[in-house]
Amino acid sequence: MRNIVCLISGRGSNLDAILRRAREENWAQALDARVAGVISNRADAAGLQCARAAGVATRVIAHGDFAAREAFDAALAEAIDALDPALVVLAGFMRVLTPRFVDHYAGRLINIHPSLLPAFPGLHTHRQALAAGVKVHGCTVHFVSNEVDGGPIIAQAAVKVHAGDTEDSLAARVLAQEHRLLPRCVRWFCEGRIRLEAGHVVARGLDADAQSVLAA
Ligand code: GAR
Repeated sequence: MRNIVCLISGRGSNLDAILRRAREENWAQALDARVAGVISNRADAAGLQCARAAGVATRVIAHGDFAAREAFDAALAEAIDALDPALVVLAGFMRVLTPRFVDHYAGRLINIHPSLLPAFPGLHTHRQALAAGVKVHGCTVHFVSNEVDGGPIIAQAAVKVHAGDTEDSLAARVLAQEHRLLPRCVRWFCEGRIRLEAGHVVARGLDADAQSVLAA
């Protein structure tokens, strides 16, 4: 069985989207894969409830309990490795990770970010997009490198920015695409259709349009 470990910090809607897809498509049988555990750096993360409701093991490793980033990441890695992960998914995990951690999971660590990277890394991406006046915005799933919100891109979904959009209206349209894109990328990884090779994403047997989605 391929174990997927999801890291979250808050609401957990992307985690919920993965759990839903895994259930609907019966990943356990179809892919020999399952979400084996969910780890949060915050005890009050609402996403922990989604995990528990789905019968998935949860752990809280509170970053505030550690004096240094390295010590937090070491504890996090220990908890992840106890789950024997094939894939680690940053599903709204809002901590910068140390190079040692990132290198340990090279090729099996992916992140979702609410912008069309490399535009708008960091926080408040929808505000940044509106301020920049871009006409197209979106989300990106990528393998994690040592650059914050950086690394080889697996897939992107774009949405049009509408006249009169607010941060909230734009965020809602992007989030709907996140919920489609992330479970799809997790599935591809488990199917062996995408992998990281010499710093590049190698995709096999994917529809020409699968890795780039243009929504309304
Ligand atoms: C999502 O929009 C995700 O893309 C973003 O946090 C949100 C988490 O929402 N991640 C980042 O900004 C990473 N840099 P969720 O908890 O409802 O999935």
